[in-house]
Amino acid sequence: MSNTYTFGDNDRASERLRQLAEVYAPSSRAFLEEVRALLGRVPALACDLGCGPGHTTRLVHEVSGAAETIGLEASERHLARAAGGAGVRFAVHDVTRTPFPCPPAELIYVRFLFTHLTERPRVLRDWTAQLAPGGLLALEELDTMIGSVPALQRYYAIVEAMQRAHGQDLHVGRALPALAREAGVEVVRDQVARMKLPGHRMASLHYLNIQTWRSDAFVSAHYSSAELDTLEAELRELAAHPDPAVFVDYHMRQMVLAARA
Ligand SMILES: C[S@@+](CC[C@H](N)C(=O)[O-])C[C@H]1O[C@@H](n2cnc3c(N)ncnc32)[C@H](O)[C@@H]1O
Repeated sequence: MSNTYTFGDNDRASERLRQLAEVYAPSSRAFLEEVRALLGRVPALACDLGCGPGHTTRLVHEVSGAAETIGLEASERHLARAAGGAGVRFAVHDVTRTPFPCPPAELIYVRFLFTHLTERPRVLRDWTAQLAPGGLLALEELDTMIGSVPALQRYYAIVEAMQRAHGQDLHVGRALPALAREAGVEVVRDQVARMKLPGHRMASLHYLNIQTWRSDAFVSAHYSSAELDTLEAELRELAAHPDPAVFVDYHMRQMVLAARA
């Protein structure tokens, strides 16, 4: 099955990624600090795969202290909005294909991309082959998320079904240990960071996303317009009214891999 990215690259998708970057910045920063310590040296080159408009690329650059950081992204539209800065650059590239258009990197970082891909063991193996000797591949992907209210739970069930229909895995974080074994790569660290994320911030990300993926062929065939309208309206309502009782119990799988010596 081909890799179909279901979450779009228009202005709304870009705004969603901006908000998403804010929500996950604290946990990703903490993880990247651990990865920097594991690496034990400042990378000459760090690489951020599926970088979108570059929020993660700038974070990787800042925390790793890399001399240069390159964000690789399939969407020209996302990259047209990406702002770099000293030492940060971007290139259009389908990262399921190697070699990457850059030298081997000491650090390769991937957040919320692997969930959208098929051929997962092959891709993991190919990514570790793009590392410089002693380099590390750091991934952050969803393991489990449980919404405290029905609208969030319904949203997650639909996204899970849509991703499955495309041969993808919403909860790919759960499968990462088995995939790493199948890929024959070395597991340097495997942990799950558990967070209680504010429901109104998550609902805001989700109603923006529904507007993008509701035209997906699988979704149109399985869910009525009225049902999606209702869900979108409920999520908008949750987004507009912060309430401590509305939250997401979020488990982020954080894995650090290396090429087998
Ligand atoms: C959910 S976004 C995550 C963006 C960023 N990593 C973050 O965490 O904020 C996934 C990104 O991967 C990109 N993408 C999807 N498939 C790709 C591929 N095969 N090669 C490169 N980029 C891809 C999408 O265009 C999108 O920008």
